[in-house]
Amino acid sequence: MAIRSVKELPVEGRRVFVRVDFNVPLTPAKGVADDSRIRAALPTIEHLIGRGARVVLASHLGRPDGKTVADLSLEPVAVRLAELLRRDVLLTDEAVGDGARKVVSDLHDGEVALLENLRFFAGEEANDDGFSRALAGHADVYVNDAFGTAHRAHASTEGMIKYVAEKGAGFLLLRELEFLSRLLGAVEHPFLAVLGGAKVSDKIGVLENLLGRVDALLIGGAMANTFLSARGGDVGASKVETEKLPLARAFLRKAGERHVEVLLPVDAVCAIGLDSSHGEVCRADAVPAGKMALDIGPESARLFAERIARAKTVFWNGPAGVFEKAPFAAGTLAIACAIAECRGLTVVGGGDSVAAVHRAGVAQRISHISTGGGASLEFIEGRTLPGVAALETAEAQ
Ligand code: 3PG
Repeated sequence: MAIRSVKELPVEGRRVFVRVDFNVPLTPAKGVADDSRIRAALPTIEHLIGRGARVVLASHLGRPDGKTVADLSLEPVAVRLAELLRRDVLLTDEAVGDGARKVVSDLHDGEVALLENLRFFAGEEANDDGFSRALAGHADVYVNDAFGTAHRAHASTEGMIKYVAEKGAGFLLLRELEFLSRLLGAVEHPFLAVLGGAKVSDKIGVLENLLGRVDALLIGGAMANTFLSARGGDVGASKVETEKLPLARAFLRKAGERHVEVLLPVDAVCAIGLDSSHGEVCRADAVPAGKMALDIGPESARLFAERIARAKTVFWNGPAGVFEKAPFAAGTLAIACAIAECRGLTVVGGGDSVAAVHRAGVAQRISHISTGGGASLEFIEGRTLPGVAALETAEAQ
C-alpha cells in the first residue's frame, strides 16, 4: 500500500479539496492566538497555488456539536491565512449548500477558498454519507494535510474520499508520518520516552507500545503521582487515579521484566493548590500532608536532563507539571531545553509540550514538532489512523 504525495497529483486547473487542521486557539478579541498549525499547512497550499489549482480548504474549529456557533467561525483563521499567503482567502457562509457551491465554482486557477467550520454540520463527525457526498461535490482531487485530525473517521477525513477520483497527502502529513514512523522502526539507542500530563489512562496505550522499543521511560506530570503511589510513596494531596493503581503496578512489573527503566521524579515542587504564588521543594514520595506535587523538582529535572543529553532518540509527550502557572513551569521548560540540547532524533507531540518548546524558545532545535496531540499518541500506540488509511492506494501510480 502506498500514499501519493500532493506533488504527484494532477492539480492544475482542478478543484483541489484540502483537509487542513486549523483547529487553533483564538484570543478573546477573535484573533488567532497560535498560528503554528496554519503556518504548517502553507507549503501544501503554496505548492497548489503555484501549480494553478483551485484550492478549497476545509477544517473544523472546536466542538460545536453540529450547530452553528458564531464564536467558532473560521473567520479569524481566514484573515490570518490571507495575511500569511498575501492573497485573498474567500470564506464560504457554510461548508456545503448553494453559497459554498457558488464560491467554489467561481474560483479561478490559483485562487483559495476556505469552507466555514465543518462541524457546524452534524454529518461531519457522524461521517454521514450525504454530507460526505456534498463535500466531495467541491472536489476533483482530495488532499489530506490534517495530521492533527487523522485519528478521526469523519466525513472530511474519511467518508468523502471514496467519492473523489484522485487522492493523496500534503507535505505536512507526509512529514508527520515520516518522523513518527521512524520512532516505531529501527531507531538509534538509547531511546527515551518522556511522558507527562494528567492521566495514566490517557497514556497507558503509548506506554505499553513503547515498552518493547525504549530503553527508559521518564515520567512526570500528575500521572507520575499514580506511579509513585503504586510504588508505595506518599504523594500528599496530589491527584492520584486510585482506580488505576493496579494498572500502574502491573505496568511497572512488566517494565522490570523487560529491563526497561522507569524513571520517576525524586523531588517535586509542591503547594496547597494551583493558585499558590510559589511552591516548595519536597521529596516526590514524601509530599507534606495537604500539599500537591505540581511540578518535578530541580534534582529530577537535572536527572532527566542528564539522561536526555545521552540519548540518541527521544519522544516527548505531556508536561512535567502545571507549566502554564509560573511557579510550576521550571521542570517542563528544563525538559524542553534538554531535548533541544540532545544531538539525536527528537520528536515532540501534544499541545502542552509543543507550547513549552515554543515558550522555551527552542523549537528550531527539535527534529520534529508534531501538529497532532491525540493523533500522534494514537500513532505511537500503534493504532491505524483512519484519515491515513483512507489515503492508501494499492500501489503508487
Ligand atoms: C486536535 O486539536 O487535537 C484536533 O484538531 C482534533 O480535534 P478533536 O479532538 O476535537 O477531534
